[in-house]
Amino acid sequence: RQYQRGVKHLCENGVSKVPDKYILPVLDRPTTNHEEDNLFNKDNLMLPVIDFAELQGSNRPQVLKSMANACEQHGFFQLVNHGIPSDVISSMMEVSRRFFELPFEERANYMSSDLNSPVRYGTSFNQNNDKVFCWRDFLKLMCHPPSDVLPHWPSSPPDFRELAASYAKETKFLFEIVMVAIIESLLGEVGTTTTKKKKTKEEEELLEKFQNGSQLMVVNCYPPCPQPDLTLGMPPHSDYGFLTLLLQDQVEGLQIKFQDKWVTVQPIPNSFVVNVGDHLEIFSNGKYKSVLHRVLVNSMKARISVASLHSLSFQCMIGPSPKLIDESNPRRYRDTDFKSFLEYITSREPKSKSFLESMK
Ligand code: SIN
Ligand code: FE2
Repeated sequence: RQYQRGVKHLCENGVSKVPDKYILPVLDRPTTNHEEDNLFNKDNLMLPVIDFAELQGSNRPQVLKSMANACEQHGFFQLVNHGIPSDVISSMMEVSRRFFELPFEERANYMSSDLNSPVRYGTSFNQNNDKVFCWRDFLKLMCHPPSDVLPHWPSSPPDFRELAASYAKETKFLFEIVMVAIIESLLGEVGTTTTKKKKTKEEEELLEKFQNGSQLMVVNCYPPCPQPDLTLGMPPHSDYGFLTLLLQDQVEGLQIKFQDKWVTVQPIPNSFVVNVGDHLEIFSNGKYKSVLHRVLVNSMKARISVASLHSLSFQCMIGPSPKLIDESNPRRYRDTDFKSFLEYITSREPKSKSFLESMK
């Protein structure tokens, strides 16, 4: 079927109108002004900014507090001064761009309908379930354990594997440090901790689980769209893991639901957009929020983003931290694991309640 080949392929063959397959019902279109929305308000949202370098210094308690506020109120923050060398980042962006510029036949080598495949090229959101397709092609790469999965990654462009592997490694390391801080902000006595705080045994164990945890890298390509008001690059969704570290280019497109309005996230060069996923919302017993977001397309510029989704390993059970449950804070989610999540997304009807809702 022609639309299964994706939007890049469609654009390469020339489109002046959005095909019916991509046209959303009026109420779901980005231009629809819902009562609760304020789409004529062109203000972009300045997400809370967390300075990673400061987190490592004497200001750590204050930074942890800002992090906690961001995770509670926005479910998102931007991370600056993260310390990943800028050439690792720019090379990842650049080689991603070159990957999507390969002839369709080469990209098609990596298509797979197996959700467990270490490499999967595809289009739309849930290609096999979507009634309306979205304006996005993607390459999904499992990153852990590297020795098992890397040999399956694209061998073209010839430098792809090496550059993507080094990017994945750096992001994973950054995730671990940020995750430790987030757990400290959630469970620790924020305000009394210092940089020299020794990790508790529990924290050590959790860190080890994250080190052996899963990492999925999703490289997204949103080609220019002739009628961007009729469709979306990605429909409203939340991410399932603990944290997503998102690298976006300077082309706007990401919107998050904030105070019942869709607001655009202003890209900051050389930063990561970090967001709370469903697993962290569950772990935090609802304190930190996995927030809905979506992606707009535009008629002028292609947009590339690289999302790195991190969680525990596929076998681990995820449930609310016992430290956050007591008489006044009853457990709000059931324990779950990855397998149930994958079963849920492959079988769900479009627009059914979210995975998170189903865990309550
Ligand atoms: C995502 O929601 O995972 C991707 C967002 C983006 O492309 O900015
Ligand atoms: Fe997402």
